[in-house]
Amino acid sequence: MKNNRILFICDDNEISRQLREPLMIEGGYFVTFEESPKGGLAAFRQNVFDVVIFKPHILDLGSLGLIKELKGIDQDCVIIAFLDEDRLEIIEHLFNLGIYDFIIKPVNLEKLFFLIKKGIDLHNLLLTNRRFTQGLKEGNIALEKQNVMLARRIEDSTRNLTRLYEDLRSTYMRTIKVLAQAIDARDHYTHSHSENVAKYATIIALEMGLSAKEVEVIRQACELHDLGKIGVEDSILMKPGALTDEEWLQIRKHPTIGAQILEPLTFLNDVIDLVRQHHEHYDGGGYPEGRKGEDILLGARIINLADAYEAMCSPRSYRKIPFTKEAAVDEIKKNSGTQFDPKVVEVFLGVLDKI
Ligand SMILES: [Fe+2]
Ligand SMILES: [Fe+2]
Repeated sequence: MKNNRILFICDDNEISRQLREPLMIEGGYFVTFEESPKGGLAAFRQNVFDVVIFKPHILDLGSLGLIKELKGIDQDCVIIAFLDEDRLEIIEHLFNLGIYDFIIKPVNLEKLFFLIKKGIDLHNLLLTNRRFTQGLKEGNIALEKQNVMLARRIEDSTRNLTRLYEDLRSTYMRTIKVLAQAIDARDHYTHSHSENVAKYATIIALEMGLSAKEVEVIRQACELHDLGKIGVEDSILMKPGALTDEEWLQIRKHPTIGAQILEPLTFLNDVIDLVRQHHEHYDGGGYPEGRKGEDILLGARIINLADAYEAMCSPRSYRKIPFTKEAAVDEIKKNSGTQFDPKVVEVFLGVLDKI
């Protein structure tokens, strides 16, 4: 069985002498006797005690500072005060300072042993609680560290995923762009067509005050707008003469084919809508859906004009000599309100110098 340790601080040697034997022999405690608060404090600093029994000078309240100091060293220390007489005001003060209990002369040994045993039980409980709390605190710190590490890993993974997604996105974009350029290059007359359309449409969109994001969507749509021509035979695309009705039917499919090719790329949804609508006319006479006025996306109305202007200003298989700039502008003015949105035409005329 473990021998519990008691620190007995008392300047009355008579009392110490009387209690030495009962405490050490009968009680089986290891008892350290100290005469002064100073000696008691020194012993307390060097050893672990289950209980401290302290006999303060009732007339010297300054000596009660010892309780405070003991509590400062170990806030869980169990202190039993040993008093010469029953004085309520000092007992209340002692409890306020943190004593566990008190005993009054003459000493009732049975009561003293009972108090010591209760005090030891309490001290053990407090120590267990302290270890448990400490364990919890350490566990919490470890958990917090793990949380921080996990958060960092998640952050890193998210960053990597975002980068991968961006890489994938730009790879897709580059691939499609190459494909669109290949379509333009099939016919040497339409070489750089999409690139020029993108340039004109971007100038108009910026002038119309569209947001940077909207302008970018329009620019991407321009690069891809004729992608669907991949589904139209070369003989039709490069035909030097007038097209038959059947051949026109083929040509008119290219906005839908382009949109269908791009459809799986959901991040291009806004772009796809513009590709599908780039041949709609303001008066409803366009294709493939015959949309009218504001029912056609503004981006598509802008691309339609830029596309037509670019086509007029470049040689074509069916028209070797391109329109002059003036003739092309006249043609656009003539078709304002029918093929073209008048508002877009107005802005276009205002930025002609830049184009
Ligand atoms: Fe087109
Ligand atoms: Fe085009």
